[in-house]
Amino acid sequence: MSDQTRQWRLASRPTGEPTEENFELVTVSRPEPGPGEVLVRTLYLSVDPYMRGRMDAGESYAEPWAVGEPMEAGVVGEVVESNHDDFSPGDVATGNLLWADHAVADGDELRPVDPELGPVSTALGVLGMPGITGFFGMTDVADVTPGDTVVVSAAAGAVGSVAGQVAARAGARVVGVAGSDEKCDWLTEDLGFDGSVNYRTTDDLAAAFAEVCPEGVDVYFDNVGGPITDAVWGQLNRDARVAVCGQISLYNATEQPTGPRKLGQLIQTRATVRGFLVGDYQDRWGHALERLAGFIEAGDLRYEESVVDGLEEAPDAFLGLFAGENIGKQLVKVGERD
Ligand SMILES: NC(=O)c1ccc[n+]([C@@H]2O[C@H](COP(=O)([O-])OP(=O)(O)OC[C@H]3O[C@@H](n4cnc5c(N)ncnc54)[C@H](OP(=O)(O)O)[C@@H]3O)[C@@H](O)[C@H]2O)c1
Repeated sequence: MSDQTRQWRLASRPTGEPTEENFELVTVSRPEPGPGEVLVRTLYLSVDPYMRGRMDAGESYAEPWAVGEPMEAGVVGEVVESNHDDFSPGDVATGNLLWADHAVADGDELRPVDPELGPVSTALGVLGMPGITGFFGMTDVADVTPGDTVVVSAAAGAVGSVAGQVAARAGARVVGVAGSDEKCDWLTEDLGFDGSVNYRTTDDLAAAFAEVCPEGVDVYFDNVGGPITDAVWGQLNRDARVAVCGQISLYNATEQPTGPRKLGQLIQTRATVRGFLVGDYQDRWGHALERLAGFIEAGDLRYEESVVDGLEEAPDAFLGLFAGENIGKQLVKVGERD
């Protein structure tokens, strides 16, 4: 094995939409694991919308990356060397590692992945952070109940596709919002959503939601913010719940939009709006995984992965999230299992 490895670093901070110039691929010496540490060879690397916040110097819900330093990512990889009792060479593990071919992690911060449970890549998607976000966002935060009409934005993405199917399984009527007819067809024909709105081809979003949700909206699972959210809010029912999961339509904005917003609608509807972070559910992670794996086995939860090949493609894959290039979870395949 070569004693070198490649890693992506943050070359500069973007203004507005990031470009490939903001990233730099460098070759460095392969790190050695210290006491309690594990050397991991990357199989799959996750690119996620929240990483946009980490490219900025200001505060987001994760620490900013330092310019000139390697960037972190959710990784599924194979253990190469281990100084930790829980891991041996050849094991598959997941954790927060680097955009890199190899990285060293504290063994206490890694979780084992059982390859018998399904493709190991799912530990970054439907059976990982995004799936768990969709699960708790819909069950705990939105408190979905049978008969609810539920709208999910970015519904064909990693989080949204799980959130919508969890709602359907709970007996709700589910409408997904997505940016292409292909995605909308996937939602209604393959995932069992009851309706969809292609926000890119709809001139009047409010009219589209009124038509597809004739009895109003009881739950809105918001992944995007902006005009889609404004239009859904116009349809909220009495005692509606809004789970604010993400605001991807605003992540590249250089100025945050300011009022007048639609807060008045919360008065007449007595709606509850609640933001949440999946990290708050660490202690119930295992419970969600068990439920999601059970849904998959029962045929009640389907998933898709958009996989690009090669570490060198990682920035492109990340930028593609903002153009809606992915269906389901966007992954970068970096290596094969031995
Ligand atoms: N709160 C938490 O703990 C937590 C955890 C994970 C993720 N999140 C948030 O959840 C959201 C979804 O994350 P994900 O990982 O599942 O990503 P994803 O949905 O798989 O990918 C992002 C999707 O967002 C849509 N999008 C991009 N720009 C948009 C715009 N301007 N307007 C409307 N839609 C747009 C695109 O689909 P279209 O083709 O439909 O446009 C794209 O495929 C993000 O906002 C993310 O930050 C929150």
